[in-house]
Amino acid sequence: MTARRESVIEPGQTDLSPQAFERLAQYITKELGIKMPEGKLPMVQSRLLRRVRELGLPSLDHYAAYFFDSPNQDEREHFINSVTTNKTDFFREPEHFAFLCGTVLPEFSAGRAAGRRFQVWSAGCSSGEEPYTLAMVLAEYAAGDAAFDFAILATDVSTRVLKVAHEGVYDQAKVLPAPLELRRKYLLRGRGENESLVRVSPRLRAKVSFHSLNFMADSFGIRDAFDAVFFRNVMIYFERSTQEQVINRMAKHMAPGAYLFVGHAESLAGLDIPFRPVRTSVYRKAGGV
Ligand SMILES: C[S@@+](CC[C@H](N)C(=O)[O-])C[C@H]1O[C@@H](n2cnc3c(N)ncnc32)[C@H](O)[C@@H]1O
Repeated sequence: MTARRESVIEPGQTDLSPQAFERLAQYITKELGIKMPEGKLPMVQSRLLRRVRELGLPSLDHYAAYFFDSPNQDEREHFINSVTTNKTDFFREPEHFAFLCGTVLPEFSAGRAAGRRFQVWSAGCSSGEEPYTLAMVLAEYAAGDAAFDFAILATDVSTRVLKVAHEGVYDQAKVLPAPLELRRKYLLRGRGENESLVRVSPRLRAKVSFHSLNFMADSFGIRDAFDAVFFRNVMIYFERSTQEQVINRMAKHMAPGAYLFVGHAESLAGLDIPFRPVRTSVYRKAGGV
């Protein structure tokens, strides 16, 4: 154990060589679609440092050699968990939820076939804040329309964030962007040593199913035809050609006229895809309207 500790990186020994970075960068782009220009070297380095320490390896270059020479599923998972960017929030980009309630849901209710549930996909859901925001908003809408029901699929490639999402436990500070009334209704306060935490209520959690999914997979293994897809702040990390490929694949799982929400910093302009813009960062699939 001591020998292992002694071999761990010393300050100044942490640099990832450009060659090793290039190899890791190519792997990240091929496996995850995430572009990795040279400028990302310090980020990759700092993200992998913890794992290098856990493994007791002497340097990041040793880690790169270890990663490629002895590939195993477990290390691949650690690697993906380390290099993905998972920043998210409750009620992030709130105009999308206002548009959903004010336009998309009333439209769905008006044209709904009997017994049809509103199906939403939170694609790249990170630690759950986005799908649980959707769950709160849709549950509120359902409270005013007895015939309305919904289901949410939430997927991500990182098993680390999916575990957090599945547990649905957050620091109180994290849920503050949610309106007080919704927090009171849908979040349970921790007691004793968990006083600073809240848990998403079981009835809300029951509306969301979490699965691992990589957008680079040839098939998504999804049978549903979604009425809305939230694909926000994910494709900003992808090459244009990858964005086009993923959105075309996604479109196959969307109903005609379904809505696609992307991040405010993202645009689908110029891509060869079956969507037309509706308003800033909201698109609609061809057909149905
Ligand atoms: C910045 S978060 C965005 C979370 C949420 N959609 C939001 O807007 O707050 C991006 C998420 O996309 C996931 N991701 C990145 N590449 C992916 C891929 N190839 N397949 C599936 N998920 C991916 C990351 O793991 C991360 O959790």
